[in-house]
Amino acid sequence: MTDSPPKKGVFNATVLMNRSLGDKFCRLTLELEKKANIPFSHASAGQFIEIDISKLALPAEKLIPQHLSDSAQRDIILRRPFSFADIDCNNDTTVVEILYCVLGPATLRMKTLKIGDSVNFIGPLGNGFKIPENRKLALLVAGGMGAPPLIHLAKVLKKQCPDTELIAFVGAKALAGLAFFDIETSKLKKETDIALGEFSRLNIKTFISTDDGSAGVKGFVSESFKNWLTKNKPDDKDTIVYACGPEAMLSATAAISSQFKLPCQVSLERRMACGTGLCQSCAVKCRDKANGNTIYKLCCKDGPVFWSDEVVWE
Ligand SMILES: Cc1cc2nc3c(=O)[nH]c(=O)nc-3n(C[C@H](O)[C@H](O)[C@H](O)COP(=O)(O)OP(=O)(O)OC[C@H]3O[C@@H](n4cnc5c(N)ncnc54)[C@H](O)[C@@H]3O)c2cc1C
Ligand code: FES
Repeated sequence: MTDSPPKKGVFNATVLMNRSLGDKFCRLTLELEKKANIPFSHASAGQFIEIDISKLALPAEKLIPQHLSDSAQRDIILRRPFSFADIDCNNDTTVVEILYCVLGPATLRMKTLKIGDSVNFIGPLGNGFKIPENRKLALLVAGGMGAPPLIHLAKVLKKQCPDTELIAFVGAKALAGLAFFDIETSKLKKETDIALGEFSRLNIKTFISTDDGSAGVKGFVSESFKNWLTKNKPDDKDTIVYACGPEAMLSATAAISSQFKLPCQVSLERRMACGTGLCQSCAVKCRDKANGNTIYKLCCKDGPVFWSDEVVWE
């Protein structure tokens, strides 16, 4: 009998790059230690790692934004979850990309990581996006910080399903919130249909929207998605929707997908303590499809990716 490959573990990684993308966003590239190669060669888009930030120091005071000066002082006891924007397993070397937004004490400390520094993490964790066979069209709906796992998924789909057409809908509050895409914002014209950053490199048609109209169409990304569906009426048997972003945007995307009878997978976020199913802090209210009863699943262990029709949206 052969042993099944290890699914997760505690590993170290070396920082290859950590650079800013605009004011609030950063791109962190990590080379994982060799023993992580096997679990990560089986990892899927939408899975995540829990990074130990506890030993990292704060940046110099002048580099701490005013609005974070109080919260920055908090001790970081719990690891922090991050999904991947890419996993590249090649010749026994695994390199992962994390795109992160600086929001509080942990992400502020992550900004200080330098080339050659070591970080400890647990992963790969959770269940990622599933890729059903025979889908001719995959629609990716990304809101704000939800872009990274969809960038990874797009790369996986391009490789594994070369005949599937991909169309992306990307939204943010304002132009600055699109920085995950590593674009020179001066190049971003105010158009409705712009191929940008990673999606452009993958040749994916992309519709941009911002709440304030500073890039693309003014309005929510879910509206841009709905307008496209209304105009194009894709076949429900050939199409699948993948979404990641704030809960209200996911709820709207789930409702619109259901209206057009399209299967939809959503990547949810919860505050996570352990990341491995032990502390029960990340409950997601779901519907048992067999009998309609309310059940609670764990975002870290059963998710973070769920079918949108199993989630009870509130
Ligand atoms: C499965 C998963 C994948 C994630 N992937 C990414 C990623 O690829 N890139 C990225 O930038 N961030 C990602 N996050 C969010 C990231 O974990 C948090 O931004 C980070 O932990 C914030 O830590 P902090 O100490 O800097 O800020 P905190 O002080 O912990 O938080 C700052 C603010 O952000 C809110 N917040 C923090 N974490 C969450 C959360 N999980 N859900 C909702 N609100 C939250 C807090 O309520 C607070 O208002 C992911 C979260 C999950 C659960
Ligand atoms: S974070 Fe502990 S159970 Fe999910």
